[in-house]
Amino acid sequence: MDFVNDVIAWKRDGHELDAGRLRAFVDGVVNGSVPSYQASALLMAMVLRGLSDTETVELSRAMVESGKMLDLRVVRRPVLDKHSSGGVGDKVTLVLAPLVAACGAVFGKMSGRGLGHTGGTLDKLESIPGFRVQLPQGEFVRQLERIGVAVVSQSERVVPADRILYALRDVTGTIECDGLIAASIMAKKVASGTAALVLDLKVGRGAFMGDLHHARDLGRLCRLIGDFYGRPTTCIFTSMEAPLGRTVGNRLEVEEAWQVLRGEGPEDVREVTLNLAGALLALSDLGVDETEGRRRAEAALADGRAAEHFERWCFVQGGRWKPGEFHRLAAHQTRASRAGYLTGVDAMAVGQAAQIAGAGRRRIDDTVDPAAGVLLERVVGDRVDAGDALAAVFSRDPARRAQAAAVLDRAFTIGEEAPQRGRLMLGRMEVEG
Ligand code: URA
Repeated sequence: MDFVNDVIAWKRDGHELDAGRLRAFVDGVVNGSVPSYQASALLMAMVLRGLSDTETVELSRAMVESGKMLDLRVVRRPVLDKHSSGGVGDKVTLVLAPLVAACGAVFGKMSGRGLGHTGGTLDKLESIPGFRVQLPQGEFVRQLERIGVAVVSQSERVVPADRILYALRDVTGTIECDGLIAASIMAKKVASGTAALVLDLKVGRGAFMGDLHHARDLGRLCRLIGDFYGRPTTCIFTSMEAPLGRTVGNRLEVEEAWQVLRGEGPEDVREVTLNLAGALLALSDLGVDETEGRRRAEAALADGRAAEHFERWCFVQGGRWKPGEFHRLAAHQTRASRAGYLTGVDAMAVGQAAQIAGAGRRRIDDTVDPAAGVLLERVVGDRVDAGDALAAVFSRDPARRAQAAAVLDRAFTIGEEAPQRGRLMLGRMEVEG
């Protein structure tokens, strides 16, 4: 196709692509007239040259319009959503969704499967026997009206361009481009009918963004697209040096989320969730600011409404939720090689161990094991003696368990001195400003 060849050369030579060219490219990818080798070449030119703000917004527009756009105005309330750029042990959505609903707002999420150290939110929910993530649109809407919370798998008809482009990017070294990432994330949110959004942008060794500066750039682009579509977007930046909480793995993470919903559980999961809840409630129609939103969320965790809402949500979506009731797999324990303070837990290594154990996917068609994963017995700052248990890795398969254990063993650093406590909440970018 000569036209596409020209578009590739145009971008390769550093020129800006206009809306028409971007639209023709996206439409061609979806209808099959642009072959994958040309699409990959253009994606690589975009990675190497970068995308301008206008290109980013126009690309997201072409992607939104490549498929069906859900109109959730039938719910007659703003439907809120949250997106995380991905972190190890990130089970925040499992707590946040029923929490926001327990506070009287509406939380609706359409989620993709994706690749990752552990499965995504859908895999975590599916670790609850019977939980249905594939709901027809009418049922999704009715559930939002009825109980104010629903998390379902993304319809194939929403942003079909992203499915094709993301799969190509995954195998052609073209994930890393902020414009492509922002367009991909926001097109899915806009087309799914999200009225307002909070982005949890993770920064650190366990995240794909190593520094706050980079996260701010991505946040700015996402907000640009949100503004274009009139979907207020707040960005919150959180640290991802060590895993969030003590569990990494689908069912293990649901169990931990349940503890947080009951007002217990690890402080870091609770803190990130409360920050996001405050920000989301401030974007709702409840007429509260973030401080009041957070106060209401704390109250719902303390008085049992959030946990109750989680149970109702599971029930309505078919899940048979019984805390602690799941098949426990054989474990390998990692132990401290010497006495001292735990000064580091490498999130990336813990994530890799969980993935090897069977908790995550390497390829999109891999299946995940709901019970596989890692449980951290000690966290950064803890004093340990030689031989103390630091973590356990659970896997059905002895060979995988041994391989995961070898990775996990290298995740811990022990020093003489107690480490300084790093900051968890790194900053924010509000709707106005
Ligand atoms: N997540 C997405 O949804 N898209 C990207 O491009 C990267 C991460």
